[in-house]
Amino acid sequence: MTVLAILGSPSKTSRTARLIERSRVALTALDIELQTLSIHDFPADALLHGQFSHPQIQDFQQRVSTASGLIIATPVYKAAYAGALKVLLDLIPEGGLAGKPVLPLVSGGSPGHLLAVDYSIKPVLAALKASAIHQGVYAVESQIGANANGEAELAEELEQRLQTAVHEFAALLGVNAPAPHAPRYANDFISRLISL
Ligand SMILES: Cc1cc2nc3c(=O)[nH]c(=O)nc-3n(C[C@H](O)[C@H](O)[C@H](O)COP(=O)(O)O)c2cc1C
Repeated sequence: MTVLAILGSPSKTSRTARLIERSRVALTALDIELQTLSIHDFPADALLHGQFSHPQIQDFQQRVSTASGLIIATPVYKAAYAGALKVLLDLIPEGGLAGKPVLPLVSGGSPGHLLAVDYSIKPVLAALKASAIHQGVYAVESQIGANANGEAELAEELEQRLQTAVHEFAALLGVNAPAPHAPRYANDFISRLISL
């Protein structure tokens, strides 16, 4: 089974990419392959001019259509998702996420734009007919680090939330994933606010 992660950050040292990196570890342990694409994987011309017939854009559409589910990862830019993400989402044909669960992963400079997941990203995913949209994981940039080898290292609280979300996402994919041993709160929204 393959999951496709679409990364909406234009940064070559993206913090949001580290959320994908940590998700990959959890998904691999569940025998789920994770592929990642960002705007850096496409020629700028093809993206900016929306060249749907370009071979790489067609390959992108093919990967979306064959993926069992998607991770949509983006930084918050100006209180919404990054434009680089929209460039990629606009290349997905109408209804292109039908039957596919989606896990949103979002990073922002402060907790202030926590609700960007709900008011900005989820409506687009719903318009693309995603079958189930996980509540997602919002991370504040200060929680996202790297170790001496450059590997992603997350604050413990964030790591636990991410692991729990990935396991819930796997369940949406129909994969039997025993819950990780992480403390859960009764109300996830309050949990997110408390943790930031
Ligand atoms: C152009 C720009 C706009 C931003 N706007 C916001 C914002 O509105 N709210 C916020 O919380 N963080 C904002 N940030 C901070 C980023 O969301 C944050 O640093 C994020 O972790 C960057 O992720 P990346 O390294 O994957 O690009 C902005 C950063 C940039 C460069």
